[in-house]
Amino acid sequence: MSGPPGMTVREAGWRDIPAMGEVERAAFDDPWSEATLWAELAARPRRHYLVATDGSGVLAHAGLDLTGEVADVMTLAVHPAARGRGLGACLLEELHGLARDADATSMLLEVRADNTVAHRLYLSRDYRLIRTRPGYYPGGVDALVLRKELT
Ligand SMILES: CC(C)(COP(=O)(O)OP(=O)(O)OC[C@H]1O[C@@H](n2cnc3c(N)ncnc32)[C@H](O)[C@@H]1OP(=O)(O)O)[C@@H](O)C(=O)NCCC(=O)NCCS
Repeated sequence: MSGPPGMTVREAGWRDIPAMGEVERAAFDDPWSEATLWAELAARPRRHYLVATDGSGVLAHAGLDLTGEVADVMTLAVHPAARGRGLGACLLEELHGLARDADATSMLLEVRADNTVAHRLYLSRDYRLIRTRPGYYPGGVDALVLRKELT
């Protein structure tokens, strides 16, 4: 798998978990614990996790659940120091490729209604709002459920 210049995208492994935990804590107010990351990697091959590295370490990760025709984006996180360089879009494209290879026909994800950067990323990659879950996140923030058809 290729990534933006100077970066590599590859399958996540057990040794990546501490660095993935750091990315989680830097990226989210309610990050996954390293125990959760262990459980997610243990759920392979149903779950697929990718990391992006620049040689110095893990900068970003993304995960997918591949159970049927609909592929669920489990997480997408880029370390704040590495944002705006195309990593998020690149990882999302890699997830689309994995889903297509598994014969999924669409992608599904949830995003906080107040997460405008992620929302713009998904809209620009043809995700469309299919429903809202009112008050789904802590603090009463709505979840937007977005779907993309894979062609
Ligand atoms: C959302 C996130 C993954 C984007 O990663 P990134 O590597 O910075 O994004 P990219 O550089 O690949 O940019 C992809 C798109 O995001 C949008 N975007 C990126 N930075 C933006 C900014 N500062 N303002 C507005 N939109 C922005 C743009 O639509 C951009 O597409 P374009 O380059 O074609 O214009 C990253 O900000 C992040 O990890 N946020 C915290 C965790 C999170 O919200 N994850 C998503 C949960 S559903």
